Amino acid sequence: MERSLVLIKPDAMERGLAGAIIGRLQSQGLKLVAIKMLHMDRELAGRHYAVHREKPFFEGLVSYITSAPIVAAVFAGDDAVGAIRKLMGPTDPAKAEAGTIRGDFGVDIEHNSIHGSDSPKTAEQEIRLFFGEGEIFP
Ligand code: RTP
Ligand code: MG
Repeated sequence: MERSLVLIKPDAMERGLAGAIIGRLQSQGLKLVAIKMLHMDRELAGRHYAVHREKPFFEGLVSYITSAPIVAAVFAGDDAVGAIRKLMGPTDPAKAEAGTIRGDFGVDIEHNSIHGSDSPKTAEQEIRLFFGEGEIFP
């Protein structure tokens, strides 16, 4: 079964939205198979967002994602990556439809409440950054 990494970002954590976001994913049939709360350090943030290292927003992104504790989770299901991206909505909440997580909860393009993996391959790489296989339940 396909897996995706989900992060509940600091803006959502600070507003007490972790449960609501996880609940939305579960209510759509995605299976929660791993979860933890952690405060990402700059090294982990750099590895997780390595693909954006050269982007102008990289420094701000690292500062933001390391600014407060977050929840990391793994969800499994048929087409889990695509299904979660659809439920999240686009990167910029201003462009996200009502009913999507970013449309309903996101503040702006930097503070957009949730991360979801963008392909099955990246998902497995990202999951390995946050979880040991023994922390993921079948
Ligand atoms: P994510 O990786 O967090 O799930 O978001 P995403 O795929 O929708 O967007 P991505 O292109 O991977 O960008 C990662 C995160 O960087 C921040 N960002 N800021 N200021 C900007 O123009 C800008 N562009 C992207 C966002 O927080 C985005 O989620
Ligand atoms: Mg991305």
